[in-house]
Amino acid sequence: MVKFGSLSTTAKVVLGFIGTAIATFLVLFYIFYEGPFYLVAHQPTQPINYSHKVHADDNKIPCQYCHTFARRSEMSGVPGAARCMNCHESVKQEAPEIKKVIAHYENNKPIEWVKVFDLPDHVWFSHKKHIAKDVSCQTCHGPIEKMDVVSRTNDFQMGFCLDCHQENEAPTDCWTCHT
Ligand code: HEC
Ligand code: HEC
Ligand code: HEC
Ligand code: HEC
Ligand code: HEC
Repeated sequence: MVKFGSLSTTAKVVLGFIGTAIATFLVLFYIFYEGPFYLVAHQPTQPINYSHKVHADDNKIPCQYCHTFARRSEMSGVPGAARCMNCHESVKQEAPEIKKVIAHYENNKPIEWVKVFDLPDHVWFSHKKHIAKDVSCQTCHGPIEKMDVVSRTNDFQMGFCLDCHQENEAPTDCWTCHT
């Protein structure tokens, strides 16, 4: 073993530099991928400036009017332009963002919404089962109706799912969520 004290000054400086670089990297890595900023950073810009606040809060449109699959299937799904046109056929047709929606509708071109909430592929999830038990959307997604732009308020760590399953006597066998 070489003793630190016996190293040349240059070697100490180099080792000190490498040590500091590694420590800085670890701290930054923690802050961005584990700490609070991880979630805040996940607020993608959407192709159309659609606001949940305007629709679900100001105009009290029920979540499941647009997310129609939620109670019936695994997926909640995001509505297509036809659903928007139910109202925007008459509401705010002159607004530039609505003109974009109309163009998608008329050209039969899907709007490419960017996914916000996501689970790793090895986890199985079903909306239907939870909605049948009256778990509110907000329990898992946060106050979506207050958001102009949806941000990821939950990164769905295993503990989040398991804690509630334990409290409510829902299944906790590994294969409930891992297939
Ligand atoms: C049930 C009716 C309804 C549906 C369905 C609906 N909207 Fe709206 N939307 C409204 C109302 C009401 C407003 C507020 C209009 C106002 O400010 O006067 C609005 C406003 C908007 C605006 C803001 C327009 C502006 O610049 O002021 C956008 C953009 C928009 N909607 C996009 C969408 C999209 C995209 C969809 C489909 C995913 C959709 N809307 C579905 C009723 C609806
Ligand atoms: C007028 C239609 C409409 C209504 C009402 C509506 N949504 Fe949405 N929702 C959308 C659209 C369009 C998107 C995709 C664009 C975006 O993320 O903003 C979306 C995206 C989402 C997402 C993110 C999906 C993803 O990519 O991970 C969640 C979660 C969500 N909505 C929950 C809700 C909840 C909860 C409510 C009720 C409080 C609600 N929505 C009401 C149209 C609607
Ligand atoms: C028990 C937790 C939970 C509840 C309750 C819940 N969601 Fe989700 N939601 C999730 C998870 C987890 C995902 C990510 C699924 C994936 O990536 O496979 C998701 C994804 C979504 C998406 C993205 C598209 C999709 O289907 O993957 C939308 C939209 C959405 N949820 C809307 C809603 C709405 C609206 C409600 C209430 C009617 C709701 N969710 C209730 C956990 C929940
Ligand atoms: C707020 C409480 C709550 C949260 C959070 C929650 N669950 Fe559940 N989950 C339940 C309840 C209640 C049931 C219904 C059990 C039943 O039908 O008896 C359920 C059922 C399920 C089922 C169906 C089980 C079956 O075989 O019937 C799956 C899969 C599941 N949850 C996965 C998840 C995953 C993955 C997450 C995290 C992303 C999650 N849950 C978060 C309460 C919750
Ligand atoms: C109620 C749902 C649920 C149950 C039950 C469950 N898991 Fe998970 N598990 C998850 C979710 C959600 C993730 C994804 C976490 C993430 O994104 O990091 C996960 C991730 C994992 C991972 C990947 C490492 C990690 O932390 O991301 C392993 C390994 C794992 N689970 C093992 C198990 C084992 C073993 C059991 C049974 C004792 C079990 N899980 C039961 C929901 C569940």
